[in-house]
Amino acid sequence: MSDIYSKISKSPTGQEYKIPSKDELEQEYDTIKNSAYDFVKNKKNRKVVIVQGLGFVGSAMATVVADAKDENKEPLYFVIGVDLPTPYAYWKIGMINDGLCPVVSEDEKLRNKTYNLVKNQKNLIATASERVYGIGDVIIVDVQLDVKNKIFTGVKDIEISIEGFKKAIETIGKYMKEDALVLVETTVPPGTCKKIVKPILSKIRKERDINKPVRIAHSYERVMPGKNYFDSIKNFWRTYAGIDNESEEMAREFLSTIINTKNFPLFCLKDTTASELAKVLENSYRATNIALIYEWTLLCEQLGLNLFEITKSIRVRKGTHDNIKDPGFGVGGYCLPKDSFLAQWAASNLFSSDVVLNITMEAMNINHNMPKHTFELLKNSFNNDLERKKILICGISYLQDVADTRNSPTAMLTDLILDDNGIPIVHDPFVDYWIERPNITKVSDIFSAIKEVDAVVFAVPHSFYLNLDITKLISKMKHPITIIDAQNIISDDKAIELNKAGCHVKGVGKGHWNTILKQNHNK
Ligand SMILES: NC(=O)c1ccc[n+]([C@@H]2O[C@H](COP(=O)([O-])OP(=O)(O)OC[C@H]3O[C@@H](n4cnc5c(N)ncnc54)[C@H](O)[C@@H]3O)[C@@H](O)[C@H]2O)c1
Repeated sequence: MSDIYSKISKSPTGQEYKIPSKDELEQEYDTIKNSAYDFVKNKKNRKVVIVQGLGFVGSAMATVVADAKDENKEPLYFVIGVDLPTPYAYWKIGMINDGLCPVVSEDEKLRNKTYNLVKNQKNLIATASERVYGIGDVIIVDVQLDVKNKIFTGVKDIEISIEGFKKAIETIGKYMKEDALVLVETTVPPGTCKKIVKPILSKIRKERDINKPVRIAHSYERVMPGKNYFDSIKNFWRTYAGIDNESEEMAREFLSTIINTKNFPLFCLKDTTASELAKVLENSYRATNIALIYEWTLLCEQLGLNLFEITKSIRVRKGTHDNIKDPGFGVGGYCLPKDSFLAQWAASNLFSSDVVLNITMEAMNINHNMPKHTFELLKNSFNNDLERKKILICGISYLQDVADTRNSPTAMLTDLILDDNGIPIVHDPFVDYWIERPNITKVSDIFSAIKEVDAVVFAVPHSFYLNLDITKLISKMKHPITIIDAQNIISDDKAIELNKAGCHVKGVGKGHWNTILKQNHNK
């Protein structure tokens, strides 16, 4: 028996799940197959849906699909989530089968529905058995496809990790039914469905003597883990495309049953490459919009201006200017730091195009380096000497009120502080364990920690920090400290209060503090 099948997989909350052996997986497959057949038996509209990859997207998507009902409020789908039998991934399967969401979020609706679908309705189950692809009518691909280096140094230097994605598609090809629909939701380099997925599936199906054309569609996710996690799939706009008319129609029919298309009609693009490109352009637009404000941040700080007030005044121009971004700490999460590179990689590697997405690539570099500005504000406050200075960073995740720490800008800040021989300490009400930086000291009580530190950087606008009692914070300080606000967390009044207590206060995009705090100090 291979070693991999005898290991334990531990969830971030510490729950241990035993990874099943090959024999156990075979038995599990038989049980799941029987349950699926029982579910669809004698019900003409019922289908089996497989969701491949139970991460941030797939785990929520599986719940949304299992929750879909027909006009008689009967469930439409038996949903089988599949992930890998590895210590890194298997706990997601274990959690779903316990009725729990693998991704921690504020969304009670997703939590309740997942529990109910697994434990009561019993049409949602998870497994590591690959054979279940053989019973799926629709197979949804939600595996990752990453970019190796998230800084642009040249078109030829872009490397993507596509092997895992290709392997996932091969596994589907090995087992899939001849008329199943493969619906790719993974964010992929434009051209992937036609130039990578179709050739892989067609070749394997030919080896299996399946000569029918394979049905493939692409429909990208806009899911947002957070308070509206479930609704960011169910009640949100969707774009899709099929590699041929039949695939397009199958995708339309399926998506219409799981998405609230009455309020959010589907948008059909006539080419899977267009749908794939739409996703990476959408995220490149956002990334470029964020990058634009960076140089204005530097300017406004030098000119003594409050950039937050300026952007607010511009946002009144609805329709053209209301999505101007505010200054900030940096860009994180799984998607924005990588998606534009997928487009540039595809341009040269799948289409031999000589187009260089210069503005987008420059934006990626600006966003990547953005936390350095907060670091500079911090360092300047200590005359460029952070040696043995204890810095408390408030916020580890990349987004307000979520626990996702992937590509969090806080990681770069801690690294920079360490490089300068400072001592970073972190706090985050949403993150129990920082998987990417396990050796950084994490505190759970900000008011105790404040006694020991020389500076605090407010990095993520979690509600907890926005509502923080500054008077209490000041009362716990042993001496005045430096406060850096990287995300508009401290109001002017709070900044004045801190300043009056002797603290040195600086903020990203808050040039006006130079003046108002000086005036106050002189009072
Ligand atoms: N996270 C988001 O909010 C978001 C939003 C929109 C789109 N996307 C895109 O969706 C895709 C998935 O993102 P994610 O955040 O869910 O990633 P993730 O890393 O959280 O999850 C991917 C899962 O796929 C599993 N997997 C990998 N290979 C597999 C295989 N062969 N068989 C079964 N499972 C396999 C992994 O173990 C992992 O659990 C990415 O392309 C991402 O860019 C993500």
